[in-house]
Amino acid sequence: MKLFSAFCLGLALMVPVSAMAAGDAETPPKQQWHFSGPLGTYDRAALQRGFQVYRQVCSACHSMKLLSYRNLEDLGYSEAQVKAIAGEYTVTDGPNDEGEMFDRPALPSDRFVSPYPNDAAAKYANNGALPPDMSLLAKARKNGPDYIYAVLTGYEEPHGDTHLLPGQHYNKYMAGHVIAMAPPLSDGLVAYEDGSSTTVDQYSRDVSEFLMWAAEPKMEARKQTGVKAILFLLAFFGIMYAVKKKLWAGLH
Ligand code: HEC
Repeated sequence: MKLFSAFCLGLALMVPVSAMAAGDAETPPKQQWHFSGPLGTYDRAALQRGFQVYRQVCSACHSMKLLSYRNLEDLGYSEAQVKAIAGEYTVTDGPNDEGEMFDRPALPSDRFVSPYPNDAAAKYANNGALPPDMSLLAKARKNGPDYIYAVLTGYEEPHGDTHLLPGQHYNKYMAGHVIAMAPPLSDGLVAYEDGSSTTVDQYSRDVSEFLMWAAEPKMEARKQTGVKAILFLLAFFGIMYAVKKKLWAGLH
């Protein structure tokens, strides 16, 4: 009985506390993705568009240190295209024979070049807030792609008693409804070549799909293995059932 009343008291206390926490992040609505479901796969065109958005917008602040340019072949780019993309970036290499560091164009084997030399520089340039590395962001956050899409489309005029400091913005999907990232996207910002609509909504969808791929590039192989395993188990069950029937036939 004591335990039960303690439990009830606990419940009674929990409800008002969670309701009181003003500015709790709203739950990101569930989106329909190409890769949703047990048979879903990434859409290569969406991934390429998402990479374009990352490259032209997000990469100004967010690094993706775990990716190499050659990983982009998975998006449907040819070896030559990847080489050309990598070649647009500069990496510091060395030391050379004279002990000097030197700059050279990036190669497909190089990791994505980061926008800032270190976290302190990144914070200094962003009002003290660190733009997180995006290599694994889609897996590091709960329902990552839904969350990223929600944050990108979740900016609003501040309401309620939210107090914004300079450099802060109202976003209902962030804890406290405050984010230190200005809305990075606007309609028409990135020129798509495949005729897809150039809206904040479409950009957000594409970049979220791209970030999911970056965090889990082997998702398709994993799903295929799962489907094969289930087919195998079904076939195995069928055979064992037939064997059982045959063995027991004489005994009944
Ligand atoms: C001008 C710099 C800048 C650009 C450009 C930018 N961001 Fe950010 N971003 C930030 C900063 C700074 C934060 C940290 C915000 C905070 O902690 O309040 C952030 C945070 C985020 C978060 C929340 C991260 C978390 O920890 O949960 C997401 C999602 C995000 N950015 C996505 C994007 C995407 C996608 C793009 C490109 C379309 C982009 N950002 C472009 C600076 C930028």
